[in-house]
Amino acid sequence: MITSELSPLSLIAGDVLEGLSRTPKMLPPKLLYDAQGSALFEQITCLPEYYPTRTEAAILMTHADEICSRLGQNVSVGELGAGTATKTRILLRSLLRRQPSVNYFPLDVSDAALQLAKDEVEKELESVNVHPHVGDFEDLTFLGRQAPPRLVLYIGSSIGNLEQEDAISLLQSIARHLSSGDQLLLGVDLVKNSNVMHAAYNDSAGITASFNKNLLVRINRELGGHFEPDAFRHVSFWNEAASRIELHLESTCPQSVRVDALDKTLRFYQGERIHTENSYKYTVECLEGLLHHGGFEVAHIWTDPDCWFAVSLGVIA
Ligand code: AVJ
Repeated sequence: MITSELSPLSLIAGDVLEGLSRTPKMLPPKLLYDAQGSALFEQITCLPEYYPTRTEAAILMTHADEICSRLGQNVSVGELGAGTATKTRILLRSLLRRQPSVNYFPLDVSDAALQLAKDEVEKELESVNVHPHVGDFEDLTFLGRQAPPRLVLYIGSSIGNLEQEDAISLLQSIARHLSSGDQLLLGVDLVKNSNVMHAAYNDSAGITASFNKNLLVRINRELGGHFEPDAFRHVSFWNEAASRIELHLESTCPQSVRVDALDKTLRFYQGERIHTENSYKYTVECLEGLLHHGGFEVAHIWTDPDCWFAVSLGVIA
């Protein structure tokens, strides 16, 4: 295996080699979130075209008290893909009106984002104890360190990166770490007018394009790649049949790219794409099905007035 021969810096080597050896080429979306990628995603969340973050934040602000009133006494909070935890603070604030302190366990692949999350939460909310954990969703053992009753947050539509069957398996493995009465707050983006969705992933400032191309910059830095990011074009579109937005990087010319740490030269034909991300959009019915198959009973679903985004509460029976 290639990873064992490389320095610890090259932990992404296995994923990159595997994904770029496939036809069609692909890279796992979690690789988008190095420090630079996480910072670019933060910028995306503030774009006028990118509706998910502010829509979900509005739902949380409107219903935080009602959400918290459905939780048990003295809940501990875990979060998958916490990022900088900006929206989480809305809930933590409301929770602190019902209990004296909160133990908060954020998980994220980005060390830098988690550090920001910890700093920001501790600065604003003194009685929240933050226990950050760097890792991906394969390791959910951190949920076991959380005392019951537990609230697990999986907001921000991060679940949209997963194929439906992987989304169900992930919810099932979350459920296995929980006990009766524990709850999951799951935020998903809903199917809507395709122009609205298209604009959100093709912003006029080009931030989403930079976020996508940062993957090549990361490979250059961490694996000694020789990608010319401007020889690739950001391509994103709504795939109606699959109910998802797709992100790709498209080679604008025939080219060969050497990646030193992989000891490989990759060939691209003009127009060849690397599939870098899927962002699945749900209907409320599909969301209910997802929760059920994942092992949760649907306690409640909140949406915004336009039904662009849904925040759902699932409970372990
Ligand atoms: C972080 C996965 C929720 O799918 O909207 C935003 C990522 N990619 N713009 C999304 C993303 C391009 C985002 N998620």
